[in-house]
Amino acid sequence: MKILMVCLGNICRSPLAEGFLRKKILQESTTNTSLRKIIIDSAGTGNWHAGEHPDNRAIQTAKKFGIDISGLVARQFTVDDFNEFDLIFAMDHDNYRSIATMARNTADKNKVRMLLNVDQPESNRSVPDPYYGGEEGFIHVCKLIETSCGAIVKELLNEK
Ligand code: 4NP
Repeated sequence: MKILMVCLGNICRSPLAEGFLRKKILQESTTNTSLRKIIIDSAGTGNWHAGEHPDNRAIQTAKKFGIDISGLVARQFTVDDFNEFDLIFAMDHDNYRSIATMARNTADKNKVRMLLNVDQPESNRSVPDPYYGGEEGFIHVCKLIETSCGAIVKELLNEK
């Protein structure tokens, strides 16, 4: 199972989602060994920040939650990600549309979901873009992501 988190720049929301999900899976995998094989990555629909580490505000906020995302490096989403990944989570509607537009067939499109729909089915809510705001926005984003990542792990365990 390979899971990809996608936002616009791959320097705020999706690296946070990658870090939170990786930590949650690591915690749960001590008792649920099937989770140990899961691979997690993140990407951005845009390429402006490719090659950069996450935004410093994202790094600092993640640290408060006990998560280190400082070593992650941004990259752009490519059509080959449909071959590589089983599940692709979009942070917001724009990301969802950008990814869905690149889908080559129904199988590709069926891999794409809105992240917050895992915890709140069919709500189609977005993880708000925290880039132009302050620290509070990052904390809000972390809480939304943390809850959704918990729901992803629950779903993965139920699918066994
Ligand atoms: P992200 O946030 O999509 O959560 O990584 C953003 C990062 C950069 C920009 C926008 C959003 N930007 O416009 O450069």
